[in-house]
Amino acid sequence: MKYPKSQFSKGVRDQDRISSPFLIKYSAVATGKTGKPYMNVILTDKSGDVEARIFEQVPRYSSQAVKDALVQVEGVAQTFNGRIQVHIKDLTILREDEVELEDYLPETFLNADKLYEELKAIIATMKDPHYRALLESIFIEDADIVARIKKAPAAKSFHHAYPVGLLEHVVSIAKTLDFLANHYGPKVDRDLLFVGGFLHDLAKIWELQYDKLTDYTTEGRLLGHLVMGSELIEKKIQKLESEDGRIPGGFPVEKKLLAKHMVVAHHGKLEYGSLKEPACLEALIVHMIDDLDSKVNAIRVFIEQDAAPGAWTLLNRQYERYFYKPEWARKT
Ligand SMILES: [Fe+2]
Ligand SMILES: [Fe+2]
Repeated sequence: MKYPKSQFSKGVRDQDRISSPFLIKYSAVATGKTGKPYMNVILTDKSGDVEARIFEQVPRYSSQAVKDALVQVEGVAQTFNGRIQVHIKDLTILREDEVELEDYLPETFLNADKLYEELKAIIATMKDPHYRALLESIFIEDADIVARIKKAPAAKSFHHAYPVGLLEHVVSIAKTLDFLANHYGPKVDRDLLFVGGFLHDLAKIWELQYDKLTDYTTEGRLLGHLVMGSELIEKKIQKLESEDGRIPGGFPVEKKLLAKHMVVAHHGKLEYGSLKEPACLEALIVHMIDDLDSKVNAIRVFIEQDAAPGAWTLLNRQYERYFYKPEWARKT
């Protein structure tokens, strides 16, 4: 039996009785002014988010209303300080097969084929025969990778967390790197920048599973996309070298090490999961542009989806601040 999705976050209005499944995006126990515990919850579905509160039986519900749980919510919507909140009276944990999963997966308006053509066009401008062969062997000749990159999100949450988000992120970075290669001139290796731009997050196509609700795979949890990306480079270079006449004289060892360095150093600092700190200009540039592109996307999407009226967003828990909303993002 499937629980019907009778209400979407976006359509919730003051005084609506709520009886519908939602996905829990965030939950935390807080203490009210009287010292009584309550729960702050954010419910989500493909239409966006809606805030919720649990005031009764908090110890019982705190173990059920957890992040990423699918729940049937019974409650009522009320306006509090100008914002809609669902007061949850009861909730039941659901299994993935008890709902239509598409109702909870974020929607994308991206055109994967068009982005993929842009990616191929950039690779076609590369001059270095080794780096170019490496990227062609991955993005053009490997049908499994091509199929996955046209679907994968770039993350479970935070940035580009919707289908095709990884490809959007990668193409956006590559265009920025193209500009920077021009700007900084020949002392920066344009083709090595592209190796980093295209490959830094590629292993997320295996680190995450995204045919159901996005989550990490076992390989992703145990190794992560930096190690997996470095292994992919090793494997693809071995394959190139084994193909007759493909790489005359073999793939230069130094270029292989630099290609791997672009991947293992792209998180910038060890405390952000980087295996190495960037040790060449190109790796530093890729790290900083990656950071910029992911933050611009995360904050833009946050502002777009924010439900608060007026000029300021709700508190962004990732950046621990409120963001100012331009006219286009304000709800009337
Ligand atoms: Fe990454
Ligand atoms: Fe990235």
